[in-house]
Parts: sequence; C-alpha cells; structure tokens
Amino acid sequence: MNEQPVEFAPLLVAAGITKSYGANVALAPTDFTVGAGEAVAVLGENGAGKSTLAKILTGATRPDGGTVSVAGHEVAPGSPRDSLHRGIALIPQELAYVPQLTVAENIMLNRLPGRHGLTSRRAVVAAATALMERLGLWVDPRIPMARLGVSDQQIVEIVKALGRESRLLILDEPTAALTEDEAAQLYRLLGEQRSQGIGVVVVSHHLDQVRRFVDRVDVFRDGARVFSGPPAGPADLIAHMLGPGAEDAGSARRTARPGPSILEVVGWTTPGRSGLQDVSITVRQGEVVGLYGLRGSGTTALAEGLGGRRRDVSGTVTISGRSRPGITSPRAAIRAGIAYVPADRKRDGLVLAQPIRTATAMLVLGRIARWGLLSANAERAIASAYAGRFRLRHSSLDQPVGQLSGGNQQKVLLTSRLATDPRVLVAHEPTRGVDVGARREIHDALRALSDAGTAVLVVTSDVEEVVDVSDRVLVIRDGRIVGELIGDHITQDNAVHHAAA
Ligand SMILES: Nc1ncnc2c1ncn2[C@@H]1O[C@H](COP(=O)(O)OP(=O)(O)OP(=O)(O)O)[C@@H](O)[C@H]1O
Ligand SMILES: [Mg+2]
Repeated sequence: MNEQPVEFAPLLVAAGITKSYGANVALAPTDFTVGAGEAVAVLGENGAGKSTLAKILTGATRPDGGTVSVAGHEVAPGSPRDSLHRGIALIPQELAYVPQLTVAENIMLNRLPGRHGLTSRRAVVAAATALMERLGLWVDPRIPMARLGVSDQQIVEIVKALGRESRLLILDEPTAALTEDEAAQLYRLLGEQRSQGIGVVVVSHHLDQVRRFVDRVDVFRDGARVFSGPPAGPADLIAHMLGPGAEDAGSARRTARPGPSILEVVGWTTPGRSGLQDVSITVRQGEVVGLYGLRGSGTTALAEGLGGRRRDVSGTVTISGRSRPGITSPRAAIRAGIAYVPADRKRDGLVLAQPIRTATAMLVLGRIARWGLLSANAERAIASAYAGRFRLRHSSLDQPVGQLSGGNQQKVLLTSRLATDPRVLVAHEPTRGVDVGARREIHDALRALSDAGTAVLVVTSDVEEVVDVSDRVLVIRDGRIVGELIGDHITQDNAVHHAAA
C-alpha cells in the first residue's frame, strides 16, 4: 500500500545552482525545493556540498550560476540581507557569534531598537529570558558568549533563529553537540514551526534522529543531488550517501584486557554551580573509557581540565605514576603526555589559515626545523597517510584547513592529536559533524590507539557514540560520577537513565 505524499505549496525554489572552488566542484547544477510547512533533510558524506548549498540559499556564498526564489520572488544572489528580508534564517555549521557580547545580546542582536545603554541592557536580558522560557531552552543570558562551550553556543544560535520571524529555517548540523534530549526538544520546536507553515531544512549526520522528523530526504554525493524522496531506513540512506558498491560493516564490542592504570584523576573539584564535585576517574592501559553527561553536568570542565584549559581545578592527576596538582596550561598537558582534542575546533583546536599538512603534523614535528623543504616533506608524509586513512576530502595538502568542509576539518583536528602517539588521549566530542563512515573510522582509530597502549578517554554528549566506542562508560551528573557501565550493561538506555535520573 502506497502512502500518498503530501503536497506542499512551493516556498523555496532553487534551480541550477552551481559552485566551484578552483578545480573543485562543490555543487554541480543542483535543484532544490522546500514547501511551506515541509521539512527536508539534506544528507551526504563530509564534503558532499551540503553547507555550500545552505550558504548559497542564505546569501552567505554567491553561486556561480542558478537562481533562488522564495514565494515567487527571486533572491539577490550572494546577499545575506536580501535572504533575511525574504525570511530565510540559517543556523550555520560553524557558529558565528560575537564573543564579547553576552548570551542575551547575541540572541537579541539586530532586533531591539536603540543602543545597548544601561537601561536597555535589562530589557535585552528580559526579552532573551522570555524567549528562552517560551522555547524551553536555557543558557544563562548574562554570560559572555566567549565563555560558553559549543553545546551552549549551539543552543543560543537555535534560540536566536527561532526567535526571528522567518518563513524558512535552515539548520546546518544543529544537533552535533547536543544530547538526545536536547535534540528531541529542538525537533519538537521545529515541529511547531512547521505546523505554522514554515519550511525547515536540516543538514545532519544523525540519520536516525532526522529521518523520523522530515517529510523528505535529499541526499548529496560529490556535489550532486543523487536522491530525493521519502525518508527511507538508515541502511538505505547510507547506501545512497556512499554510492553503489559501498558496504556498511558494523564493528563488534571487543573484550578489552586492561593493563595498569595510566591516567588517574583524584578528587577534582571546580567552583561554580555546574562545577565538578570530588570527581575521581581512572583509565587503564588498553581500554577506551567513555564519559557521558548532559549539558552542564561537568563533562566540559573535566575535559578542559585535562587539556590544561582550566586553572580553577583542585585535586590531583597522576599520569603513568607521576602525580601533579593539576594541569595549568595546554603546554603542561602536552608535557604530561596528554593529547587533547577540544570540542571547539575553531576556538582552540585548529589554525584555519594553516595548510592541511602543517596542521596535521605540527604537534609531532614540534619545533624541529619548522621552515624549509625537509619539514614540508615530513609534514606531507604524515598528513598524506592520515588523509588516505580517513578519506579526507581535499584538493591538496597545501590547502588551508579553513577551506575544508566542517567534517573534514574535524578529521584534521583529530589526526593531529592521534599522530603524536600520546600516553593519554582525551577526546572531547571527537566525531562532531563527521559522517557515519568517517565516524566508524575514527572509533576504530581510537581503539587501535588504546590497543597500542594509550589510555583513551572519550568525553561526549552523544549517547550513541559513548555506547559504540567505550569499553567502560562513566556517567556524570551535577558534577559527580553517578554510574559506571561495563560489558552488556553498556546500553543507550542505561547511560541516559543515569545521566538524567
Ligand atoms: N572557501 C572554500 N574554498 C575552497 N573549497 C571550499 C571552500 N568551501 C568549501 N569548499 C569545498 O567544497 C566542498 C563542499 O564543502 P561543504 O562544506 O559544502 O561540504 P559539506 O557537505 O557541508 O560537508 P560536512 O558534512 O563535512 O560539513 C568541499 O570539497 C570543500 O573543501
Ligand atoms: Mg557542512
């Protein structure tokens, strides 16, 4: 029995869109439509052209050819103002906020009349508070944006976009740093928007989450739309994404035989409401430990503390038997043998202007002969091995990292840390924004590293990830470790239950 597809009145019509960067074709002639009240998922591997399409629809990128119209009116190409005027709102993959401003000011940016004087500041906080309460999403409105972690920043961007009067909402990887619950709340809100006739486009690698929500799925591969139709099962979607001949090989839980403890965190406490309260954890040689918790539970403080990004930690840390009071700088973390993969790759992970080869190999080659042919060749050798292994979509290893798609930037960040062959690897949201294939490669790489003797700690808000990758799961809530899962007890239900109880 065939279900009759719902007809939507056309809202956005993009026709014959093309975009190339040099010889690299980001979008082949592409058509894309969204109806009023329709929800469309845009899927595809890292580098398939999804963000390029999103940016063209919102005027952030000017296409080489083609037209975009909203409700019959053609939008001026490459004009963010005109797109906004036509009611198109984008939550970009690479969040763009003003770091000096507070959460409230960012949310209300360009919307309140008058200047931000002392009197209007209170009004700004009140308006932002009211909006967040209405949406059921909360971040302290008085905190400067620069102090927020990625998941809080993501929430702010969502609030900002939903608070605007728009006709079409485009969300590029909106749930990459959100937990299941937060993602569910976001989809509830988007559902309300949809029922008011607003079109919704979601770019996502969380296939299962997104396919339940949408009316239609468009799959992109190598800059072309290769499928457009009703949301099929994840296996079919993956087949469309990867193309003919690709196979989806699952990986089984291994039986880790952990050795001596390598990383011991003892009695970590940080000040503040969402601080850590006497947290102790151990990671042994040969095991991958996953740390899972909701936003504000303390996962960020712990990860950043181990990366040397926080000075307010009390307690001790012991690495391979050597004890120290804390890790007070990124450099101290490296000296202690910790490789740290930050959740926010743009803020403290990557230098976007650096060539791919330098960004990948920098930490390995250290300060030896940074200049000259020798080091360029050494960089290239290291980078090209990793680029092959993780199927990095790039045109040349000399290309700046900033030109890569979001997921491919994440691969460079991760490999730059893997390459150091550290004693301890602390990976915070290691697969943020990477596609399902690359995600598996990365999980395999983390296991291989642990097999080779590294203590691996994966800190993540992604419950699927923590269940897939970990030999042992620790759950943190309100700054305390509240659960430990091993063996068959490592399930999404158990992890979520402990985290939210
Ligand atoms: N400014 C740029 N300069 C050069 N190439 C670019 C630039 N922006 C994007 N590209 C290239 O265009 C292609 C498509 O990138 P896009 O960001 O659209 O991918 P995506 O589908 O969003 O991937 P992801 O899932 O990783 O976010 C990639 O090969 C990318 O390297
Ligand atoms: Mg993208």
